Amino acid sequence: FKDTATFTNGVEIPRLGFGVWQAKDGQEAYEAVTHALKSGYTSIDTAAAYKNEESVGRAIKDSNLPREELFITTKVWNADQGYESTLKAFDESLKKLQLEYIDLYLIHWPVADKYSDTWRALENLYETGKVRAIGVCNFHEHHLTELFKTAKITPMINQIELHPKLSQEPLRAFCEKHQIIVEAWSPLGNGKILTDSTIAEIAKAHEKSPAQIILRWDLQHGIVTIPKSVNAGRIAENTQLFDFELSAAEMAKIDALNEDHRTGPDPDNFNF
Ligand code: A2P
Repeated sequence: FKDTATFTNGVEIPRLGFGVWQAKDGQEAYEAVTHALKSGYTSIDTAAAYKNEESVGRAIKDSNLPREELFITTKVWNADQGYESTLKAFDESLKKLQLEYIDLYLIHWPVADKYSDTWRALENLYETGKVRAIGVCNFHEHHLTELFKTAKITPMINQIELHPKLSQEPLRAFCEKHQIIVEAWSPLGNGKILTDSTIAEIAKAHEKSPAQIILRWDLQHGIVTIPKSVNAGRIAENTQLFDFELSAAEMAKIDALNEDHRTGPDPDNFNF
């Protein structure tokens, strides 16, 4: 699956990546990433806060895949935000991952009064060639507007909770207007939206699983998606998205499932 999205600087990110949030450090995360790389994923999304960067790094190293064929994302945690502390946190992530550069470095959450300075640090990392692209996560439109006031570089991507019950259409439109790629975390609603009857019906018609229907809906909307699984069968299942197509009517039916329903915290109201 070579399908990619292209950032404003020309760097490409695979549209389908592998998420490791909630994959436990040690054997679980190591084996999940190992299976994912064997199943053909080349993009891995981790974060300092997931506490599994060391296991992810070991799995990457042991895969013996050429570094340039991989796309590795990690994120600066809230407690490390600020200019100097972000630069330090970045070095720690790099060391844990055993890498010489990161493909995509992200601000994990919009910590008020901190994210503008944090962004300056990301701009510095970008300009010095330690990262190939920079972006944010969990930014509402108002956070982006605020960041634009001081940013030299517009965030290239915004990774947000996004799935059929939280389709984020207004924020997607805003990001599109500013050439910011949208990436979905918890694309399967943390596994909690797979029993929806509309999705089940569409799945049956295509002889696909509900997860495959949702991930295909992401791809057809141009959304970068990073499903998480620690199960070898489901890791492979989530890659089988390129041999079928949802009709416009099916896309519209899934669009209509939106309830603005979050499974995770609201970026305006988190305290961690
Ligand atoms: P598991 O890791 O046991 O496979 P999200 O990426 O939206 O946060 O969803 C992750 C959750 O969905 C996990 O609990 C994961 O469980 C489950 N999951 C991932 N892929 C599938 C699939 N193809 N079918 C059913 N459940 C899945």
